[in-house]
Amino acid sequence: MKEHNMQVQHRYLSSVHGSGHSGHFTDTIWRQFVMSPAKSYVLFSFIVVLLLGALVSTRLLDSAALDGGANRVVTDRKSLTFDPRITKKPRNKIEYPLNCTAAGSHTHTKSCPGTYPTSYAPEEDNDATSPSTCPEYFRWIHEDLRPWARTGITREMVERARKTANFRLVIVKGKAYVETYTKAFQSRDTFTLWGILQLLRRYPGRIPDLDLMFDCVDWPVVLRNAYCAPDAPAPPPLFRYCANDQTYDIVFPDWSFWGWPEVNIKSWEPQLKDLEEGNGRIKWSDREPYAYWKGNPTVAPTRQDLMKCNVSEGQEWNARVFAQDWIKEQQEGYKQSDLASQCRDRFKIYIEGSAWSVSEKYILACDSVTLIVTPKYYDFYTRGLMPLHHYWPINDHDKCRSIKFAVDWGNSHKKKVTNRIIV
Ligand SMILES: *[C@@H]1O[C@H](CO)[C@@H](O)[C@H](O)[C@H]1NC(C)=O
Ligand SMILES: *[C@@H]1O[C@H](CO)[C@@H](O)[C@H](O)[C@H]1NC(C)=O
Repeated sequence: MKEHNMQVQHRYLSSVHGSGHSGHFTDTIWRQFVMSPAKSYVLFSFIVVLLLGALVSTRLLDSAALDGGANRVVTDRKSLTFDPRITKKPRNKIEYPLNCTAAGSHTHTKSCPGTYPTSYAPEEDNDATSPSTCPEYFRWIHEDLRPWARTGITREMVERARKTANFRLVIVKGKAYVETYTKAFQSRDTFTLWGILQLLRRYPGRIPDLDLMFDCVDWPVVLRNAYCAPDAPAPPPLFRYCANDQTYDIVFPDWSFWGWPEVNIKSWEPQLKDLEEGNGRIKWSDREPYAYWKGNPTVAPTRQDLMKCNVSEGQEWNARVFAQDWIKEQQEGYKQSDLASQCRDRFKIYIEGSAWSVSEKYILACDSVTLIVTPKYYDFYTRGLMPLHHYWPINDHDKCRSIKFAVDWGNSHKKKVTNRIIV
């Protein structure tokens, strides 16, 4: 599996380079790369907004993910989406399929045609021609970059982020160069880079030169406390998948949007299609009147606490929770972990694992009411979720009673819930 992924990555890399040469950068690249702090700050904002935009354009959140997921309780369908008038227009999405061939059977090198566009033609791109408003959660990037708003970002700051980074990504003139410091867990880094390469392909000529450090480990590490003294240095800008209120890590979409083969999860678009199909199998009012959760309870005490809310002979908390055994699943072909068949109950619980959990988007995409156990971490879109609009909040310190109350209320106010109105 790993080898295959690496091959895919290499294919993308070599096509971006236009030839099969190595993805490692050299010092000469750095020399072209010194820029003023203010400029680099602007570029950072720009690239992050573009990346988020690219995700949205691949239908991350525009029609079915967040509002579709929580649409039982959505009153304001626009708050996390583009203007619905735009999303209704027929799409003529620009796609650049890869058409690469092996250079020789004895090597791993692949070569891809050098005929991909090098400039971006918005007039051919229906996703981009319509005037659109950025989703509300885009504003958080300003928050995430605030620590550098006055100082800008210098190369020295970037290099201080190397300590924990898995890789450094440099984009110069539309080509991506990567230096891997430490191989990430499973294929996280490969799929993150794959997303970046698709971005380059999607917006040829539009991605500014940049230089960033990326850490693929779950937990944020840039502690705010260490940078609050008047004479403290600026924090290192470090990208990762989640952060919390005690840290300055900059959040970036997680690898699973582009695929997670180790647990049989597809990239977002086909995965979303599966979930939509799963949603269509049973209409909401015919579903089990419980709150469903399935996952690995051993990764966090709060999840073990949730297990206590399972139905038992003595107690009915309206929760149906199941422990996932990934090793068994792997051996049995993921029959019991198919996400689309997990939209079987009226309510679905999201609870964090050792940090944020990638499961949140799949849970929201199920057409059930999402019950979110108060989270400690955020990722790039979750700060845009509004309680009682997109989800029902569950008290972390009193989970069972809080779940029971939410489920009882939803079941006895079906009309209000199915009318997508809570109060
Ligand atoms: C891929 O390349 C081959 C050989 O150049 C060509 O015959 C084929 O039509 C191409 N396929 C696509 C989808 O462009
Ligand atoms: C919760 O209860 C159901 C039904 O009795 C059972 O199948 C399931 O294994 C239980 N979950 C856990 C984590 O024990």
